Amino acid sequence: MKIENALVVGSGQMGGGIAQVLSTFGIQATVYDKDKAALDKAKVVIAGSLDKLVEKGKITDQNKKDALGLLSFTDQLPKKIEQNLVVEAIVENMDIKKSLFSMLSGIASENTILATNTSSLSVTQIAGVVKNPERVIGMHFMNPVPLMGLIEIIRALQTSDETYTSVVELTKKLGKTPITALKDYPGFIVNRILIPMMNEAFYVLMEGIASAEDIDEAMRLGTNQPMGPLKLADYVGLDTCLFICVCFHRELGEDKYRPCPLLRKYVEAGWYGKKSGRGVYLY
Ligand code: 3HC
Repeated sequence: MKIENALVVGSGQMGGGIAQVLSTFGIQATVYDKDKAALDKAKVVIAGSLDKLVEKGKITDQNKKDALGLLSFTDQLPKKIEQNLVVEAIVENMDIKKSLFSMLSGIASENTILATNTSSLSVTQIAGVVKNPERVIGMHFMNPVPLMGLIEIIRALQTSDETYTSVVELTKKLGKTPITALKDYPGFIVNRILIPMMNEAFYVLMEGIASAEDIDEAMRLGTNQPMGPLKLADYVGLDTCLFICVCFHRELGEDKYRPCPLLRKYVEAGWYGKKSGRGVYLY
């Protein structure tokens, strides 16, 4: 199926970025969030990002205008979802995701593909609450969505070849490379590798082996990463990083995934990273 319009559920940094990229590549995108303030913030962030991309010569002013023309925002879920695709980008909580998907499955047309942007949870379990679960799939976008080249595709056990092919085609249309996780295991490919590295960076910090700045600089200069793991953790959100660590520890059951106590402490303090003004660093 050719995807021409989409509903994005959730207007945080991922939902907003996803809607921006969809509209930039000619897909009509409606962003739904029940929180009006979050929608207002997303509008400002998307406009700022598009301006930056024009300034950098990555898109033209006309591209920006066209993208804005294809975007809309609402705090009301429609009674019937007619779009070809729904992308869910809400909080990483299985119960909340399941209740959303169960509701979506009742109001979406039966051909609508239901994609989750989950960063670690079981797509198969989410599909389990949906009528026609063969239309459920994982589309894991990377942050910042407008700049990153990858979309990880995760097939639930139930995902049909038709759903998979449509989503791979869409990914290419968005100028991104699709890479498929062949099995629906926690964290898929990227986060299964990235999050333990960030967690380990917190251990190195906690054990006093080096300062945060030196850990990041060592990894930046020593392994050519664009930003060090602690800075990246702040960027992703320390609450999200901790949530994923907890999920790995619980689901994969090995001590190597034990969340670092220092990461827990930061989250307990409300130091969530860039979005809260303080994480490992001050913003
Ligand atoms: N839209 C438009 N422009 C943006 C932007 C956005 N969303 N975000 C940043 N930019 C701009 C910056 O403002 C900057 O503009 P400036 O030069 O005028 O100041 C420009 O992009 C380039 O940024 P920088 O010069 O600061 O740095 P880089 O060239 O290194 O690029 C980066 C920035 C792409 C964020 C790069 O640092 C990077 O790739 N970092 C790693 C990101 C990463 O690993 N993401 C994956 C995280 S894991 C994930 O998302 C999965 C999840 O489930 C946890």
